[in-house]
Amino acid sequence: MKTIAIYHTDSDYVCTLVAHFQTALPNHNVVAWEKNTSAEYLIAWKPKPELFATPNLQIIFALGAGIDAFIGADLPDNIHLVRLEEAGMGKQMLEVALYGILHYSRDMITLNRGQREKQWLNYATPKRLPFSTPIGVMGLGQLGGFVAESLAKLGYSVSGYSRTDKAILNVTCYSGDNLDTFLAKSEVLINLLPLTAHTENILNQDNFAKLPKGAFLINIARGKHLCEEDLLSALNSGQLSGALLDVFRTEPLPIDHPFWTDDRITIMPHIAAITTKDEAIRQISNNIIAFENATPMTGVVDRKRGY
Ligand code: NDP
Ligand code: OXD
Repeated sequence: MKTIAIYHTDSDYVCTLVAHFQTALPNHNVVAWEKNTSAEYLIAWKPKPELFATPNLQIIFALGAGIDAFIGADLPDNIHLVRLEEAGMGKQMLEVALYGILHYSRDMITLNRGQREKQWLNYATPKRLPFSTPIGVMGLGQLGGFVAESLAKLGYSVSGYSRTDKAILNVTCYSGDNLDTFLAKSEVLINLLPLTAHTENILNQDNFAKLPKGAFLINIARGKHLCEEDLLSALNSGQLSGALLDVFRTEPLPIDHPFWTDDRITIMPHIAAITTKDEAIRQISNNIIAFENATPMTGVVDRKRGY
């Protein structure tokens, strides 16, 4: 009988998952991961290096969409890495993207300041037409592709940027060398790229300078995409007017970090999109069955590409 070991920093969640996977895969032995546990399959999140030494290990299933923590932790080449695809996260990302867009387009940074100072900042005509803010979505995969297409359906003028060419209804798609043209059109820039050697620090001073003046940043991908000092400089110079950040270089965000008290920045504690448990169980169970039947799995990570 093959063994499935589960590792997560939340031990209650591990117990829940063990019970659910045992029901979904009754012909497997499902256990909580412990040192020296031998297992063919490991289901894990926020991995620690010891996990990769699990005897007999063939596949690691990440309990999330982004797998940078696994690749960054020197996962041995012979172990397959499989991630979750969408898993209920697309609509959550869309909601957060909309929240950020509206925060910017309805001028909430200024209005919140007005509220604190008890000022009635009434204006006679709308500052812009509804759903008219030009949006740019970086990364057009499972999540970014859905967000871009959905925002276009609402009437926004949407551009997208990816590594390879894409065709998405009513979205102007750019790829490869066309980053600058894409940035120039992105008054709200939404980052949904994976973290790789090519995308680390992509949210930097040079790229901020290519955005329309006063643009707004929504980073809901990874903290290491953003040069935090460059964001503060761009806010201070007025090149950016604000940011909605869900992810940070250090999480939890350190108590003395300047972002906490900057009213131009809205902070979320890495909860933009939370993996749906049932969908995670469904995808991983189906993949284990597929692997054992020698049929293709979904969500297999291209280790060379890095996502
Ligand atoms: P996908 O792998 O499905 O999509 C990635 C997209 O990024 C693809 O369109 C890809 O292009 C593009 N891309 C990759 N590298 C580059 C590059 N160098 N230049 C331009 N485009 C590039 O990922 P998901 O949509 O599933 O997830 C995206 C990220 O969102 C995750 O990696 C994770 O970091 C983050 N995330 C954050 C969460 C949160 O709560 N904050 C929750 C879930 C995910 P191409 O299609 O051409 O290959
Ligand atoms: C993910 C995340 O990548 O939650 O799934 O960050």
